[in-house]
Amino acid sequence: MPNILLIGNGAREHAMAEAIMRSGKKPFLFSYMKANNPGIAALSVKTKIGGYSDLEAIVLFARENKIEFAVIGPEDPLNNGVVDALTPAGIPAVGPTKSLARLETSKSFTRNLVAKYNIPGNPQFKVFTSLEGVEEFLNSLDGIVLKPDGLTGGKGVLVQGDHFTSRQEALDLCRQILTGSGSLIVEEKFDGEEFSLQCLCDGKTVAGTPLVQDHKRRFDGDRGPNTGGMGSYSFPDHSLPFLKPSDIEEGLEITRQVTAALLKETGSPYKGVMYGGFIATKNGVKLLEYNARFGDPEAMNILPLLKTDFVEICKHIIAGTLDRLKIEFEKKATVCKYVVPKGYGLPAGHPDAASSKAKIEVGDVGKARLYYSSVDKKEDGLYLSSSRAIGIVGIADTLDAARRITAKGVKAVKGPVAYREDIGTDALIQKRIEHMKKIRG
Ligand SMILES: Nc1ncnc2c1ncn2[C@@H]1O[C@H](COP(=O)(O)OP(=O)(O)O)[C@@H](O)[C@H]1O
Ligand SMILES: [Mg+2]
Repeated sequence: MPNILLIGNGAREHAMAEAIMRSGKKPFLFSYMKANNPGIAALSVKTKIGGYSDLEAIVLFARENKIEFAVIGPEDPLNNGVVDALTPAGIPAVGPTKSLARLETSKSFTRNLVAKYNIPGNPQFKVFTSLEGVEEFLNSLDGIVLKPDGLTGGKGVLVQGDHFTSRQEALDLCRQILTGSGSLIVEEKFDGEEFSLQCLCDGKTVAGTPLVQDHKRRFDGDRGPNTGGMGSYSFPDHSLPFLKPSDIEEGLEITRQVTAALLKETGSPYKGVMYGGFIATKNGVKLLEYNARFGDPEAMNILPLLKTDFVEICKHIIAGTLDRLKIEFEKKATVCKYVVPKGYGLPAGHPDAASSKAKIEVGDVGKARLYYSSVDKKEDGLYLSSSRAIGIVGIADTLDAARRITAKGVKAVKGPVAYREDIGTDALIQKRIEHMKKIRG
């Protein structure tokens, strides 16, 4: 009966907490959260509220409660070095050290690593710390993507055609990014369909999990501003209908090679989640980025399907023995939708932009699973914050059945909220299939 520490307070961590508590090892959950998540709190024997940069408080909470190991949900504590702080206290973690988390926190680190070790998947790219040579490189590319070199909450990347059109605009934006973050990656724009491949990694062995497609845009039809993610779906065969089996293998192979490269480069094994954001193109699978943690929403698609004991998986990641464990998922479809405040993600000036901290009521979600994200639980009920509020997940034998469960679930959340209607619909998936057909010729 191990004492396990979970760090994080989102819907992703609510799904992680649930996976931990499903374990046959009968664990006791201790949760360290930036804000109180009522779903996580209900599963925990003890919770502590504090900031993710207060490493002393985190280590103290872990020590006081005789924690056997910690599981880190979000990127912020990883970037602050929480694993580096827990290790000397004798508390191992599922999650990379600060140095290894550069895989997510520094896009230039990852692009350079992939290039240095001749791993496939990189675009043409260059890293700049001044404007020198930027214009020339912009002129050499057909399509342009600009990335600030740090954590931006999924809202910092600028894509030609979506966020700007001309090379002159690109140059102006490069100037702005350099002023803001000091380091800029300019890269070739790919055309294709994106997928999330979340892998479990013990430093040597890489284990894939079901593929998921995420939806970043705020509105139906992939319109409107980018968000932290509005929802995601997965198929019973653990692939996506617009991909070939070789696409998954390519994504896995890139991740295996990156794992080996990280060990060579830093001398220490990467233990945790390596979430590859990939894009299938006419020239095969390309790497957009890595995250050093599960996706939010994508964790909600895969963790409820996990048949293997999650605590067992964590122990094997820490021991470096993942090769000895068979990790299995139920062959079911999932559709996850985020219920968000109406004003979520909208620019100031938009008629719905005013963020309301309004009260919401959650009725009967039927067969759907419910994962809390940013909600404020007060004595008289639940209140919205300015971020995504509740993740609703439908699980069934077919995507259509899963989508219907989710559709019923989101309607049970009453208040000034919004969600996307189109996630997991036939029309949307057909569009993706057609797009890939056209690209592949
Ligand atoms: N090289 C690229 N070609 C085409 N689109 C890209 C490229 N890089 C990023 N994007 C788009 O921008 C989004 C965000 O970029 P990503 O690298 O995933 O950063 P982050 O998630 O940190 O914002 C991607 O999901 C993808 O839609
Ligand atoms: Mg991304």
